Amino acid sequence: MSINRRYFVIKSALAVASLISLKNYAKTEHIVESGLAEIFNEDFLIGTAISNKTLVENDAAMLSLISKEFNAVTTENALKWSEVHPEPDVWNFQPVDRFVDFGRSHKMSMIGHTLTWHRQTPESLFSETIKQVEHCNSCHSFRRATPRDELISRLQSHICVLMDRYKQDIDTWDVANEVVENNGKWRESDWYKILGPEFLELSFRFAREAHPRGCLLYNDFHLEKPKKCDSIIQKLKTIQNRGIKVDGVGIQCHIKLDSGSPTIEELETAIITLYKSGFRVHITELDIDVLPEAWIHRGRHIDTFPNKSELNPYKNGLPNQISQKLSARYRAVFDLFIKHRDKIDRVALWGTTDDESWKNGLPIAGRTSYPLLFDRNKLPKAAYYAVKSLKS
Ligand code: GLA
Repeated sequence: MSINRRYFVIKSALAVASLISLKNYAKTEHIVESGLAEIFNEDFLIGTAISNKTLVENDAAMLSLISKEFNAVTTENALKWSEVHPEPDVWNFQPVDRFVDFGRSHKMSMIGHTLTWHRQTPESLFSETIKQVEHCNSCHSFRRATPRDELISRLQSHICVLMDRYKQDIDTWDVANEVVENNGKWRESDWYKILGPEFLELSFRFAREAHPRGCLLYNDFHLEKPKKCDSIIQKLKTIQNRGIKVDGVGIQCHIKLDSGSPTIEELETAIITLYKSGFRVHITELDIDVLPEAWIHRGRHIDTFPNKSELNPYKNGLPNQISQKLSARYRAVFDLFIKHRDKIDRVALWGTTDDESWKNGLPIAGRTSYPLLFDRNKLPKAAYYAVKSLKS
């Protein structure tokens, strides 16, 4: 081969190599494009909930997406009473241990959800106690006060065991979830029926004793309803006045696409009211429901409806027009959060990809929903870019 020809071959090889590396560079550039956490770094933490499925299956693709996009993680179900403590002496720590390992290795803020709730709590916790109360009342036994004391002691030990085990890693806790009705009255849950209003204070007292420096939150939905918001503030202030610090309030923010529920103005009023009352605001469970309202059918499966497509209109994909509406709604709420970033510590989505959202299963099972920022292939949706564009 002549020197010229050899030179040409080497030059072409170099050109091809540099083309390949340019291509790879472009690919790498795409992969390392800033995640949401980095984009909103100066505003608030950006969180998501990690499902039990992801934790149990150790889903590498999902965990890698989460670590790229988010800097705060919540246990979606792993710390709910019936999951972590299904029977008095049975504890299922493994999914939570995995959650904590993951959060620690990515230096994330971790949120424990939730210590006291009326759902996903073993029925037996209350039924045994109620039976004992009835028994003691009917026989006028001297042990009459015992069932109540028993429930208090179970609550205390549940909180102590979990917080002792995880307090080095889990910095923030949803201590109590959904104890107030939309009209501001106490929810008539088994906690309330057996312990009266005191159960809320006890939950915060035990949590504060177990984790003196923890960030302790009260978490609920529909805080945009003034009666509910005011009632929560008043209840938390009563607790504060008894010397127990409550750091903040979680606005779940399961919102709707169409009905404007809540409006941006209503949400803004809630954020300002909570902040002015001395509570840091956390947006804890954000998602946007694109499906028709169906709570009156709670518990049914979509297959039991004669006209399935009415209640499950996007089974085969989200039309572009709805996708655009979803992007606009996401943009509007994030715009509001940025405006109030001095009051908000964290904005967390309730899940990462559409397929893992609870909205596919509740209130009607078997529907196809699109409430989050990533699609079923773990790819960013138009709504994701709409949110990001607020910072560019
Ligand atoms: C509430 C709870 C969450 C989750 C959702 C959906 O918002 O706080 O843990 O269970 O309901 O079920």
